[in-house]
Amino acid sequence: MRVAFLGKGGAGKTTTAAGFIKYAATRHPFVLAVDADVNAHLKSALNAEGEAKQLGLHFDEITSYLRGQRTDLGERPIIGTTPPSLKSNFITAKPDSPFIEKYGLKHGNITLITVGTYQEEDVGGSCYHEKLKSLAGIFHHMLDTDDDIVIADTTAGTDNVATSLSFAYDLNIFVVEPTEKSVKVFTDYVEIAGNIANKTYIIGNKIDGDEDSEFIQQTVGKDRYLGSIPLSQNLKKFEQGELDALTCFHNEQFGAFARLYDLLRSQKRDWNSYLDRLRKTYKWDCERWYSDFYGVNLQEGLDEEFTYDAVLSKWAKQKTLAGV
Ligand SMILES: Nc1ncnc2c1ncn2[C@@H]1O[C@H](COP(=O)(O)OP(=O)(O)OP(=O)(O)O)[C@@H](O)[C@H]1O
Ligand SMILES: [Mg+2]
Repeated sequence: MRVAFLGKGGAGKTTTAAGFIKYAATRHPFVLAVDADVNAHLKSALNAEGEAKQLGLHFDEITSYLRGQRTDLGERPIIGTTPPSLKSNFITAKPDSPFIEKYGLKHGNITLITVGTYQEEDVGGSCYHEKLKSLAGIFHHMLDTDDDIVIADTTAGTDNVATSLSFAYDLNIFVVEPTEKSVKVFTDYVEIAGNIANKTYIIGNKIDGDEDSEFIQQTVGKDRYLGSIPLSQNLKKFEQGELDALTCFHNEQFGAFARLYDLLRSQKRDWNSYLDRLRKTYKWDCERWYSDFYGVNLQEGLDEEFTYDAVLSKWAKQKTLAGV
């Protein structure tokens, strides 16, 4: 199941996502971490080393992989929201997935994939949604099960609702500081997010005493509030070079993660609603912009028979036959 960390700029999304990734990795054999922020800081927050490939730079290569053996599209291009066909290539959220192995950066039992940032040629003429469409294509072809854990750090604010990534996550976690502005980013999101708001919860961050957590809960309610992370001196010490202080900070953070972990593990994805939403978004994308842009009707010929359940049951049968 997939969870995204959202919130106001500087609220602590990356710090909290990295903490939860590490926490989940202590309880689960494998975690797929996703850096979906233009300011890609998740790698350093995880203390991971090595080069992280930028998915945003490999859109053509990625879509050519996802296309697999499908013939329904003919020569027509794949965009970020193109629904799969039964003959597409799919991706698992497992460490031995060829796709994850190729694009991910391994760090213990965590693998990080990174959307990446702007290049010089993007200056003055590009928007981050152009980069995020690689991740959208990946998620819409990812057959992760309720036994998989995928955790994403995202861009600041409510921007997430404007792309198909808004429905790609099973849970959204708002990281909220005890300030009016921070709480308002959450209430603004709930106002526009429609039924996605039903799967959105809150973690209080930089909490200095009960009054701070009560301040947030007064507005957001108690049911959605999963836990508090203290305003930590240890994190500052770590950022000033005291490496041991990170373990102390994790101990402070981890107390807030048990409820979130259980909630994530209890999610079940409704693949049919997911596909329905994806098809509507694709239709909208084609009508609004992409068919004109490419000069072809991108909706023509699309495999309408496809369902995620059909691929999943095909995979299950193959596993049974192979005795796995
Ligand atoms: N619990 C905490 N206690 C003390 N400082 C914290 C805590 N959480 C985060 N910070 C600090 O707050 C700052 C912002 O954190 P972080 O980069 O995680 O926020 P962000 O929401 O990801 O920011 P951006 O919107 O720029 O991506 C950092 O300096 C971080 O060290
Ligand atoms: Mg961040």
